[in-house]
Amino acid sequence: MTSERIFFNFPVTADSHTLKAYQGRGGYQALENALKTLQPIDVEKEVMASGLRGRGGAGFPTGSKWSFVNKKAPVVYLCCNADEGEPGTFKDRWIFEHNSHQLIEGMILAAYALNVRNAFIYIRGEFDLSFRRLMDAMSEAYKAGYLGENILGSSFSCDIRVMQGGGAYVCGEESSLYTSIEGFKGYPRNKPPFPAVQGLYKAPTVVNNVETLANVPWIMTNGAKAFSAMGTEKHPGTKIFGVSGHVKKPGLYELPLGYPLKKLIFEECGGILNGKELKAVIPGGSSTPILLPQDVETANLDAECLSTYRTMLGSGGVIVIAEGVCMVRLLHTLSRFYAHESCGQCTPCREGSAWMNDIISRIVAGKGVKGDLESLERITKGIMGNTVCALGDAASMPVINFITKFRAEFDYYIEHGRSMNDGRLEI
Ligand SMILES: Cc1cc2nc3c(=O)[nH]c(=O)nc-3n(C[C@H](O)[C@H](O)[C@H](O)COP(=O)(O)O)c2cc1C
Ligand code: SF4
Repeated sequence: MTSERIFFNFPVTADSHTLKAYQGRGGYQALENALKTLQPIDVEKEVMASGLRGRGGAGFPTGSKWSFVNKKAPVVYLCCNADEGEPGTFKDRWIFEHNSHQLIEGMILAAYALNVRNAFIYIRGEFDLSFRRLMDAMSEAYKAGYLGENILGSSFSCDIRVMQGGGAYVCGEESSLYTSIEGFKGYPRNKPPFPAVQGLYKAPTVVNNVETLANVPWIMTNGAKAFSAMGTEKHPGTKIFGVSGHVKKPGLYELPLGYPLKKLIFEECGGILNGKELKAVIPGGSSTPILLPQDVETANLDAECLSTYRTMLGSGGVIVIAEGVCMVRLLHTLSRFYAHESCGQCTPCREGSAWMNDIISRIVAGKGVKGDLESLERITKGIMGNTVCALGDAASMPVINFITKFRAEFDYYIEHGRSMNDGRLEI
């Protein structure tokens, strides 16, 4: 497993985010080369051969997603998903703040491959510096001729429009995202039709995450082989992991996929705060099932390995939990979030996420009753697989997982009306 860096490969300085600095690092050469010497299909083939998989959560192969699109359709759209709303996830923000041009170049290359004239960036509305840095980079790119009509003198033209998000977690779901771009309430849509067939304004659409698209210039510069030499065979490349919670050195770490989780926590991040023991880890953003310390001994950070632990890599937001944390109260934080963020469009998610939060709130208030945990389990079964989008599953998975793995804590809380953890080490 080799490990080069695709993102954290330059020192961050006061002007390292500018066009001049990016060009100094070889930026926009992949685009120049593609427009002069490659056909659009060559770009798609290279991305396909690299094995790049989506970094937004589901890990879908990017080249395959692009190949589903009919490039001869009168209009094809590309949407960059920069909503970054999953609790525990803060990687895309870094790309905007320090290297917006890498994303812009990746989007132009993707647009060239997909025959896209108009592309969109849907950026989380709460992002401030990210938005300003992106807008500065956009005007630099337009002035330099990387965007707009006849890019770099070629016959290819492309515009990117930036939309600030609607302030809802669900707007990060791909169909909700383009519904919001259209100016409607960000409600997810039933699939099929899938976005590749009918997405934004009913045209074939590709939705890709920021980190996914920002990998493309590196792949086009260094080749698919160099990319697939990093990471694992089925999940190649590097990933930006955002580590939060009870570690000595929280932050962002770019590592090859397949990197041991134990090494990330105890070597890169310096181990657990205040000499405490590790209690649990949420590996890929708040909706991914939790891992216990014995799992952390052997789990690697790639989709295939984590699936053997019945969890997911998700968006790479690793939340580390030390001994002393009350898992009942932690679940309450999550259930409140999902109940609040349900868009209310489908009954199982709208009612179920609120019921779950009501029951957990009651337990936390010391008023839990016998049968509450069974009710929670029953509600999760009613939600999972029965909703328009995956938010319903995301709300249910932590509930079922926390109860199964920390049953004694929940039973104690209900029986005694208080937590068995006096430590009050909240996350
Ligand atoms: C409720 C919900 C929220 C989501 N939020 C995001 C998000 O903030 N950013 C993101 O890239 N993907 C998010 N996704 C996943 C997207 O639907 C989609 O799979 C992703 O943008 C595809 O990009 P990729 O193939 O490059 O990973 C979310 C999914 C759901 C169900
Ligand atoms: S699952 Fe929840 S968030 Fe998704 S469409 Fe249904 S109600 Fe809305």
